[in-house]
Amino acid sequence: MSDFQKEIQRRRTFAIISHPDAGKTTMTEKLLLYGGALRLAGTVKSRKSKQHAVSDWMELEKQRGISVTSSVLQFEYKDCKINILDTPGHQDFSEDTYRTLMAADSAVMLIDAAKGVEEQTKKLFHVCRKRGIPIFTFINKMDRHGKEPLDILDELEKVLDIKSYPMNWPIGRGKEFRGIYERATSKIELFTGAGHGTTIVPTKVGDLSDPAIVETMSESVYELLKEDLELLDLAGDAFNMDLVSRGELTPVFFGSALTNFGVGAFLDSFIKMAPAPHEKESSVGVIQPNQSEFSGFVFKIQANMDPAHRDRIAFVRICSGVFHRGMTVKHVPSGKTIRLAQSKQFMAQDATTIDEAYPGDIIGIFDPGIFRIGDTLTEKSSFSYEAIPKFQPELFARVHLRDAMKRKQFVKGIEQLTNEGAAQRFRNPDIGLESPIIGAVGVLQFDVLEHRLTHEYGVDISLEHLPFTLARWAVGVNLTPRDLKSMDNMVVQDDDDNFVVLFRNEWAFNWEAERHKEVSYLEHPPTKGT
Ligand code: G4P
Repeated sequence: MSDFQKEIQRRRTFAIISHPDAGKTTMTEKLLLYGGALRLAGTVKSRKSKQHAVSDWMELEKQRGISVTSSVLQFEYKDCKINILDTPGHQDFSEDTYRTLMAADSAVMLIDAAKGVEEQTKKLFHVCRKRGIPIFTFINKMDRHGKEPLDILDELEKVLDIKSYPMNWPIGRGKEFRGIYERATSKIELFTGAGHGTTIVPTKVGDLSDPAIVETMSESVYELLKEDLELLDLAGDAFNMDLVSRGELTPVFFGSALTNFGVGAFLDSFIKMAPAPHEKESSVGVIQPNQSEFSGFVFKIQANMDPAHRDRIAFVRICSGVFHRGMTVKHVPSGKTIRLAQSKQFMAQDATTIDEAYPGDIIGIFDPGIFRIGDTLTEKSSFSYEAIPKFQPELFARVHLRDAMKRKQFVKGIEQLTNEGAAQRFRNPDIGLESPIIGAVGVLQFDVLEHRLTHEYGVDISLEHLPFTLARWAVGVNLTPRDLKSMDNMVVQDDDDNFVVLFRNEWAFNWEAERHKEVSYLEHPPTKGT
């Protein structure tokens, strides 16, 4: 195997999906701890409010010299190079998370044992399902009283429609939690609770023939374990790696991120089963990661943390070839050539520069103002990777500028923030971009837009909320806004000049769709050329 091939094979790029509070931050931190990137996990744990999490990470980055940003964490574990894609927790930003999932090769679904499958997890799970990526499940908080493990597996099947295979099984519950039983080896890892989650847990391993191990369990815990194991062997789904690879069977692990218990066992199995970067569909067919030409796509754009400089960073997932610092790449949509010498990278051990990066890695590059989410970068070819789906906006508002003198900053601010994916921008065909219409998925997106326009662009705006809840892209021959307009709707255009009709509700849409049989109303923008 060539060195290049080895670098690809040892990469594991994944995202953690969960409902807020299931323990994603804790788990991420513990994975870093096990990766040797962080010696005392407790140092990050001092945060009291979620707002501080970002600055904690930044501080951590400085202290440890590891690549920690709000977007990607990289560390070595055993022979693997692991990239964890971070995803924002708040549900109003789920669109951001969806895009990030497009850059992941697998997902870890974290479930709070007491709460089971929650709303946000469900949504994110469906995105992973659609992509067909492997999904690994970690049932967290086993140190506390929670639902019965068998009931959680049942929930996975009923709520998410996925088969599951428990790789290990909890011994005892809540206060009587004693450890985990690994099904493949029949080995037991005893829960000691030592270190209170700040260090890698010392494990005591044995099996059910070892009296010292059995002694740690009460009679009822022992009996329950034997009963559960028999039931799983008899009635549970069989393990099948092909189904795991297609995302149809999820390997399940039990543990407690807070006390580190089960994290090491999870990571060991995960690196064996999770896929290395593989081929990806493009407009010219499948692209293999080991092809020599560099290629990748932008999945996230983020304004620089420093408001004094309006630099923006585009996060690129490398799909093929090798990235070298200073290389020249082609921005496929514009055909422009960009030298990546000035690029800031977040992947190196020193967190600022990197000389090389491989498929599966994420690089952060300065955006000269031309990138949009989903754009493909190559060395010279002109192919594009599949588009990143946009969310269906459900809330709409017209944005008015308060001070006409600030028009230039206003247009620029709206343009940059919507390119970043903070919200979607539409314009009225008659008025243009003077008072754009913004589409959002959650109310918080409007707040963020308003706040950032004020603080980063010095522009005061007012929002006029519009009574629409549904957007459809209208496609037809020689369509004009007049063909689409009715008393009740609004016809706007997106940045690619497609006509978009905003409706009050599903009923209004159906009524008009019925009247305009010559028009196709699409849920997403038409791909170029249709
Ligand atoms: P999130 O990023 O998914 O939103 O969750 P986060 O890690 O912040 O964890 C949410 C809460 O759950 C935290 O408690 C955290 O300590 C707790 N937690 C995480 N993993 C476990 C576990 O395995 N067992 C138990 N018992 N608790 C766990 P908090 O009180 O909200 O915050 P903090 O004051 O501890 O930071």
